[in-house]
Amino acid sequence: MTDRLSESEAMRRAIKLAMGGWGRVAPNPLVGAVLLRNGSVIGEGFHARYGEQHAEIAALAVARDATGATCVVNLEPCAHQGKTPPCASALVSAGVKRVVVGMRDPSPDANGGLEHLRKAGLDVEVGVLAEEAAALNAPFLWSVRRPDRPFVAAKVATSLDGFLADASGRAKWVSGVESRDFVHWLRAGFDGISVGRKTAETDDPQLTVRGAVPPRVTPTRVVFTRGGLKKDLHLVKTAREVPTVVFTDPASHAQTDAALAGSGVEILPAAGREDALVALRTKGIRSLLVEGGGNLITALMQDDLIDRIYWIQAPIFLGSGTRAFGDRSPTLLADAGHWAVTDRQTMGRDTLLVVDRELCLPA
Ligand SMILES: NC(=O)c1ccc[n+]([C@@H]2O[C@H](COP(=O)([O-])OP(=O)(O)OC[C@H]3O[C@@H](n4cnc5c(N)ncnc54)[C@H](OP(=O)(O)O)[C@@H]3O)[C@@H](O)[C@H]2O)c1
Repeated sequence: MTDRLSESEAMRRAIKLAMGGWGRVAPNPLVGAVLLRNGSVIGEGFHARYGEQHAEIAALAVARDATGATCVVNLEPCAHQGKTPPCASALVSAGVKRVVVGMRDPSPDANGGLEHLRKAGLDVEVGVLAEEAAALNAPFLWSVRRPDRPFVAAKVATSLDGFLADASGRAKWVSGVESRDFVHWLRAGFDGISVGRKTAETDDPQLTVRGAVPPRVTPTRVVFTRGGLKKDLHLVKTAREVPTVVFTDPASHAQTDAALAGSGVEILPAAGREDALVALRTKGIRSLLVEGGGNLITALMQDDLIDRIYWIQAPIFLGSGTRAFGDRSPTLLADAGHWAVTDRQTMGRDTLLVVDRELCLPA
């Protein structure tokens, strides 16, 4: 390898490499590592699959001889013996001289790597591209700090005037083919994929991952209703193949349960949105992608239960239809908190904007 990179360029590369583990490494974090000697890349790698080698080990394997090198990695190297040996010890044994880290690992099991490296005499710097490193692993960081509910991301595809569907209720297709491919990739990185009852019935979606990245664990499909759900929907008919949960009002639980009996759908009562999210986390769902519609997203937004928005804007105007974000209580410009912009991309004719309510930066 001959590329010459600064340490921050190497960090950007490590973050990009880390994305190679999307859909494969959860509940572990996404991690990429680049080894530099005098600015030249001598090895690089990423954590590619849960239970398999970590990024630093993959990069060391490529470099073969890393004596005197600098390791640039988006997350603190682990210090514990888990499914694989500790990365901090491997870096010390390989003769690495300096370690540049995006952010500390907040998980109690894995942290302590920096202390190990410093104790062994390595030069350690922390916080290079910390915001990018935090955005990369937002669902992981959330799961460590907030074990009470999943990280919730909304995905919306709208017209430029903010409509999810036209006045006839039709949403297929607001966005272009590139955006739809992106959504399949996106789904692979979430434990759950959710819609409101009206979207389930109007669009009759499959909510499965049918893209280039097959997820290690099939995401659970989740429908929110305060009443029942029609039986002849894709989601119900395929519930024996793909885990499917329907949250319903405690008052209509027995009725919905009886109506969908034998379908394979798990019907859970929840008194409100927050209760439903707590129940999902208890079931092991650490991250949830809410794909609409507007009513469900608006309700979650009102309760500050949306942590990230993937907003696909198509260059069309619809004038009327279903709004992605319904009415909110008025906020003066001076009081409007800014969301953190974590990504902007062109996808065919569409534009993707990714914003986070707050970044999980180290304390
Ligand atoms: N372009 C896009 O990205 C996109 C994505 C998704 C959907 N869409 C379009 O959006 C339209 C449907 O959106 P929508 O806004 O009308 O409906 P929606 O948000 O999909 O569903 C609303 C329903 O969700 C259930 N729900 C459960 N808990 C809720 C809560 N706390 N707050 C609000 N709703 C709750 C309710 O079902 P019950 O009535 O059973 O109680 C409510 O009627 C369709 O035309 C669809 O094609 C577009």
